[in-house]
Amino acid sequence: MNNFELYNPTNYVFGKGQTEKLSTLVPKGAKILLAYGGGSIFKNGVYDQVKAALQGFEVIEFGGIEPNPRFETLMKAVAIIREQNINFIIAVGGGSVIDGVKFISGAVRYEGNPMEILKNRVLFTDTAKVIPFGTVLTLPATGSEMNSGAVITIEATQEKLTLGGSALFPKFSVCDPTVVSSLPKRQIQNGVVDAFTHVMEQYLTYPHDALLQDRIAESILQTLVEIGPDVAENPNDYKLASNFMWCATMALNGLIQKGVPSDWATHMIGHELTALYEIDHARTLAIIGPNLYRVMFDTKKEKLAQYGTRVWNVTGESVEEKATQAIEKTVEFFHTMGMKTKLSENTANYSNTADFIVNRFEERGWKALGEKQNITPEKVREIVEMSY
Ligand code: NZQ
Ligand code: ZN
Repeated sequence: MNNFELYNPTNYVFGKGQTEKLSTLVPKGAKILLAYGGGSIFKNGVYDQVKAALQGFEVIEFGGIEPNPRFETLMKAVAIIREQNINFIIAVGGGSVIDGVKFISGAVRYEGNPMEILKNRVLFTDTAKVIPFGTVLTLPATGSEMNSGAVITIEATQEKLTLGGSALFPKFSVCDPTVVSSLPKRQIQNGVVDAFTHVMEQYLTYPHDALLQDRIAESILQTLVEIGPDVAENPNDYKLASNFMWCATMALNGLIQKGVPSDWATHMIGHELTALYEIDHARTLAIIGPNLYRVMFDTKKEKLAQYGTRVWNVTGESVEEKATQAIEKTVEFFHTMGMKTKLSENTANYSNTADFIVNRFEERGWKALGEKQNITPEKVREIVEMSY
């Protein structure tokens, strides 16, 4: 097992009715920016719950953070915080609103052009230099409620770039699974597949000695397989919704990544598909993931076979046979979760995609991705072309 440090300061407040606790979670006397997305919180009652819990606080609202949040939009919130001396932010929404708030939090006191935060992958490690924030999660998927990463799109250049650092963990996250009941089926499907792929990025590498991490990862995958199709059909079922929410957080709160190698190339390629074609994040992962496992078969086959055996109960004579079946099972699962796993099923104009992505990665110096740094531009091309 590799050496590691486990640091996660987010106060995770889980369960029915927990939004009421906001008044005790927010620092006394805080002047708050309440950030939200396109308005779903007005329809499902979450806004009313939040406002009721924040009585007595000074609250300024900032709506309109879009899915795949835009740098250009977020900079408007940065200006408001600077003008009005706001000292706490609450993100009410899914991964996009939470990620947007992480960017805002870091950008307000950033000395320099905030675009650099994204272009140069600035790491925020000093809590004195960010605006503290908490979240009220409305969509289980990204794990952003309990991690310190974020993904932001620059509209002007059609780039989707990451930021992060230990200062960008939420102070608290209120996670009430009843929010699942108002989610469109498509978003529940996305959430399951995103969480599933987060586990795969950290688990599906090569055999190592981190036995517990493997078992935890497999149990998250098994739970998602068990509940995923059902929660999409029955979003009012609290048992399903609560397990879905906890799985999504556990998939990307840093725990299963400790002491192990990780990949993340599926996400890096997938982000380009969203930046180019606005395909939902999870759907890009369902397109790329299985083809990446195929192209990188030799690197990943042992772990694929372990995953196939333990998660899907596949049997077979050889590692290769089990690994191949494991990929097929994964694709079947993604189809069950409503994913269309070919790029051509998601967008019409895809013919130059591989060239575009390979050029971009080369410009950024991303020439060796994956757990063994053997996902070269040629491999990226093969993966993307196989995904057409
Ligand atoms: O904007 P509103 O009106 O709130 O509607 C949203 C949005 O249209 C809607 N929604 C959210 N909660 C709802 C609801 N509708 C009804 N009822 C509710 N309870 O769902 C739509 C999608 O929301 P969004 O926040 O975009 O989805 P998600 O949580 O999947 O976040 C995706 C973003 O997170 C990034 C992705 O790249 C993408 O930008 N990621 C962030 C990660 C992280 N910070 O760790 C990791 C992930 O891999 C991912 O890259
Ligand atoms: Zn993801």
